[in-house]
Amino acid sequence: MYEIHPYFTNDGSVGLFSPEADDIYHSTYGALAEAYEKFVIPAELEKYFQNNSQIKVLDICYGIGYNTKSFLNFLLEKNIINFKNKNLKKIKKNNLIKQNNVPIHTDNIENNQYNGEIHSNNTNYTDKIYGNNISEEFRMQNTHEDAINNGALYSNNISKENSTSKAQNNKIFLKAIDTDAKLFYFSPFFRQGLEEDKKYNSIDFNYEKINKLLQGNFEQKYKLKNDVNLFIFKNIIAKMSEIFEDIEFEQILTSKRYSAFFDKKFIALFKLFKNNRGKYGLLTRVKAFLHNIYYRYISNRYKKALNALCLDDFIFEPEVEDARISLINDKNIYNLIFLDAFTPAKCPALWSLEFFKLLFEHLDNDGMILTYSNSAAVRNAMINAGFYVGKIYNPKIDKYTGTVAAKNKSLIKYELSEYDLGLINSRAGIFYRDENLNRSNEAIIASHEIEVKNSDKISSSKFIKDYKTKF
Ligand SMILES: C[S@@+](CC[C@H](N)C(=O)[O-])C[C@H]1O[C@@H](n2cnc3c(N)ncnc32)[C@H](O)[C@@H]1O
Repeated sequence: MYEIHPYFTNDGSVGLFSPEADDIYHSTYGALAEAYEKFVIPAELEKYFQNNSQIKVLDICYGIGYNTKSFLNFLLEKNIINFKNKNLKKIKKNNLIKQNNVPIHTDNIENNQYNGEIHSNNTNYTDKIYGNNISEEFRMQNTHEDAINNGALYSNNISKENSTSKAQNNKIFLKAIDTDAKLFYFSPFFRQGLEEDKKYNSIDFNYEKINKLLQGNFEQKYKLKNDVNLFIFKNIIAKMSEIFEDIEFEQILTSKRYSAFFDKKFIALFKLFKNNRGKYGLLTRVKAFLHNIYYRYISNRYKKALNALCLDDFIFEPEVEDARISLINDKNIYNLIFLDAFTPAKCPALWSLEFFKLLFEHLDNDGMILTYSNSAAVRNAMINAGFYVGKIYNPKIDKYTGTVAAKNKSLIKYELSEYDLGLINSRAGIFYRDENLNRSNEAIIASHEIEVKNSDKISSSKFIKDYKTKF
């Protein structure tokens, strides 16, 4: 039976523990803080968008989506993208009221809104978005939608407002991969977090390993906008319709045992959608459906909910697959890759030399791979795959918290030290091998153990001892 083992991390966000991998999915330091500080902030997105208006991102090991969510949240916070139709809707609504026109949620409007939803099932993003033709198509469809929906209601003022928005033209494609479909399903349902309240951590899971690391006082450093979860929710239910048939998932989602961890409003949304599926027909009409329940059922706290449905310039593609297979079949070149697999000792398949060679083929010349891992074996595999490799520095805690790999040397801000290079040349730097990208983790670990045992390189403990005496 499927199980989840949630707990509140030190920033109040929900983290998971995996008894199977005997590993945590998220750092006890803070699941959300980690996503921000190890992945999103080091990506220097503000700088990136000074010179670029589109980005392709690959989130390897989506889990419950903190890296994806933090990325989207950051773009919204910095106005790199925005909920495009927000202003349009406000004015549309006012006009409708002023003109004593049809009520806002008639079937017509729902349908027209759906007509305007572009790219929802579009997997071939490269061809569809990145050409001038496509932008034209995009613009035409929006214009068409406007014309249908509003006729004269969309005034010139509004176009002006949109054209002055610096976020208007930024287009984002994010593919997220994980082998575990249920984690995708759960991802929009986790509550934003707890503040100053740790009592839920004592529920009946064995948290011995985690409890040692939990500090006791929550410090909420970052906050996700509700719209972010709603956007993910919309995409998951539209693109992963199997969610409605998954009894185990629903049992966990609605079980009292886990109720502290899930956002009740999202559970209510899910049930409403499920119960009204017949009525609303195709899942692709989710936008119309949510539009409707937004007005009819959801409290004022969800006033902004509809905005999340208008984020047409952010394409989110969830994929349930082994990342190796996914990448072999993927033709995209990415500007940014988040690599958040379980530790190399547990999941070497996503840290092998061959996997990094595969990533090399999928990374733009000015792109970056970011990961939390500081492992010498990982860094050595990256170097051997052809990357320049450096460290991620977190000034907040004055620590190096991960590794960056790039093809362009100038993107390496913090170079590996003499100590790091020494470790790479010791046995600790012997990387994992997965020649045909299809071996099991167990098989990779077994052959790695033999290679380390037979190696005549200096052991890491001897290297560290020598290094300490030298300095
Ligand atoms: C450390 S967790 C990722 C946490 C995640 N980034 C988050 O924000 O919740 C590692 C994830 O790797 C996934 N995984 C394990 N092996 C994989 C593989 N071969 N391909 C893709 N995903 C894999 C697991 O299902 C798990 O969700």
